Amino acid sequence: MTEGVFRRLGVADLERLVVLERARPRPWTRDQLETILTDEAVCVLGVEVEGRLAGHAVVARQPFEAELQAMLVAPNMRRRGLATSLLTAVIDQTLRWESERLLLEVRASNSGAIALYRQAGFCEDGRRRGYYPALESPALKTRAEPQAGGGVATWGGVGPGGAPSAGAEREDAILMSRRLL
Ligand SMILES: CC(C)(COP(=O)(O)OP(=O)(O)OC[C@H]1O[C@@H](n2cnc3c(N)ncnc32)[C@H](O)[C@@H]1OP(=O)(O)O)[C@@H](O)C(=O)NCCC(=O)NCCS
Repeated sequence: MTEGVFRRLGVADLERLVVLERARPRPWTRDQLETILTDEAVCVLGVEVEGRLAGHAVVARQPFEAELQAMLVAPNMRRRGLATSLLTAVIDQTLRWESERLLLEVRASNSGAIALYRQAGFCEDGRRRGYYPALESPALKTRAEPQAGGGVATWGGVGPGGAPSAGAEREDAILMSRRLL
């Protein structure tokens, strides 16, 4: 278990966030990251290890619930408990918001993330068939790093991990939630 320093990220962290996002097959763009960092209804939590940004989680406040929109840990820092600790920090934030439930969506193939969420008390609520574009689409091959993964980002269905797009092979989204209050 690696000890990290957890804090809310701000616009001053934008460049470091852009670099960390490159570890994702479909990185959020600089503009998208800047938008979430300046949105008062969104909290971007980061974890630093030895002064480096090692992971982040994006959680959005909704009228009664909160949505975990993204979670990412740098590849060389995985399996050290950082995502588990980030989830604890996310839950602390949603409790301060008095959210009733924390919701998320995850690619059906992302078994590592699904195991992480189950371990953190999330239950499966259902499935959205063919929600995600295939990760192996030609456009992605030019920039994707060779890793499994998938985003929870939806931004109301238009986020980089969740935007429906044309293409034959698509992947289901697993809908999960955890009751908070
Ligand atoms: C998913 C992700 C955030 C997990 O981060 P992490 O810091 O490695 O997670 P943790 O170390 O806290 O793991 C906690 C538990 O989750 C499960 N888990 C995490 N990654 C796993 C993997 N690749 N395979 C199987 N189980 C995994 C395990 O049960 C693990 O406990 P253990 O290490 O004692 O076996 C990280 O792999 C990642 O950034 N992946 C790419 C982006 C992504 O998929 N984000 C989630 C989108 S929904």
